[in-house]
Amino acid sequence: MDKIAQFVQKSNCNATTVAVFGAIGAAVVAFKALSFFKVLVDVFFRSGINVKKYGAGRGGWAVITGASDGIGKEFAFQLASKKLNIVLISRTESKLKTIAEELEQKYNVETKVYAMDFTKGADQDYQALQHLLAPIEVTVLVNNVGTNHEIPTPFEQETDKIIKDIVEVNINAAMRMTKIVVPQMVARKNGLIINLGSFAGLVPTPFLSVYSGSKAFLSSWSQAIGAELAPKGVQVQNVNTYFVVSAMSKIRRATMLIPMPKPYVRSVLGQIGIAGGASTPYTSTPFYSHAIVNWLIDNVLTRGFWVKQNYNIQTDIRKRALRKREREAAAAKSQ
Ligand SMILES: NC(=O)c1ccc[n+]([C@@H]2O[C@H](COP(=O)([O-])OP(=O)(O)OC[C@H]3O[C@@H](n4cnc5c(N)ncnc54)[C@H](OP(=O)(O)O)[C@@H]3O)[C@@H](O)[C@H]2O)c1
Repeated sequence: MDKIAQFVQKSNCNATTVAVFGAIGAAVVAFKALSFFKVLVDVFFRSGINVKKYGAGRGGWAVITGASDGIGKEFAFQLASKKLNIVLISRTESKLKTIAEELEQKYNVETKVYAMDFTKGADQDYQALQHLLAPIEVTVLVNNVGTNHEIPTPFEQETDKIIKDIVEVNINAAMRMTKIVVPQMVARKNGLIINLGSFAGLVPTPFLSVYSGSKAFLSSWSQAIGAELAPKGVQVQNVNTYFVVSAMSKIRRATMLIPMPKPYVRSVLGQIGIAGGASTPYTSTPFYSHAIVNWLIDNVLTRGFWVKQNYNIQTDIRKRALRKREREAAAAKSQ
């Protein structure tokens, strides 16, 4: 009899435990399903703050770094099409002037160009920019310029120059440009700062460690200044970017996961103030396939798993890059 009573008691206890864990499991699954559903709603159905709010057609200017190619050039065209005047900055003045002329003719906006090399971190360049931007109403800043390791490289083998260049371009340029324009945005209580982040900042990327760290900085810094500036009317958005077809990515063909700059930038500008696949504040992962990957990274398996994945991917890319270098060196020798 005792044994039967014990069995019944134990079974009840087990059943309660199973029910409790079952309920917790169901709640976790429901929460995850809801958060995935929210990502889909964000990227497919919601529209963000209209960029026209930032002085479009009313004398507002957008300042874009790294504006002569790739994603930055596309920002210049799409922001000009919304009637923002454009300041274009990169190293190659001839390219900037050609783009500026095209923008003026096509969209009837004003433009300014400034050629500088951000790797130099030269005070006189930033002073000249301060001078150039002081008299105009800067309402949008796109901190787009970025540089990367030439090939995936173990940190201890990377050159001091590449390490310094990445820090100067990806970190210091964003901070210095922001310091120049934020006071006038705050004074007007109207401004938008878009920082071009990367999935390398979301998941640490072995062999691209300095680039990865610089984008992690950008992510953390964007969230911090985003919170500081929101009550002052300035919207900060770090944009988590997976791959986009460009010179930097060395990818020439678009796929579902790797868009051309045009649809990519359209997704960024269509979702200002909306998280998309991002789970951190003042951050957005707006392109639909990137958003789904972002959600998977945040919700499926551990960060350790994703770092290991990156380790394997970059090891493979490094091997192929070294073989290519060897082939090129042999070809050069035989000439
Ligand atoms: N493409 C991707 O897959 C991807 C993924 C994640 C994040 N991102 C980020 O997106 C941003 C734009 O990348 P992208 O792929 O569009 O690059 P990109 O096509 O290589 O264009 C880079 C732009 O920056 C300018 N630039 C490069 N170095 C410069 C320097 N030292 N000083 C001044 N200007 C410089 C280039 O013009 P000049 O040569 O004339 O100077 C060009 O206009 C970067 O911050 C990058 O980290 C890109």
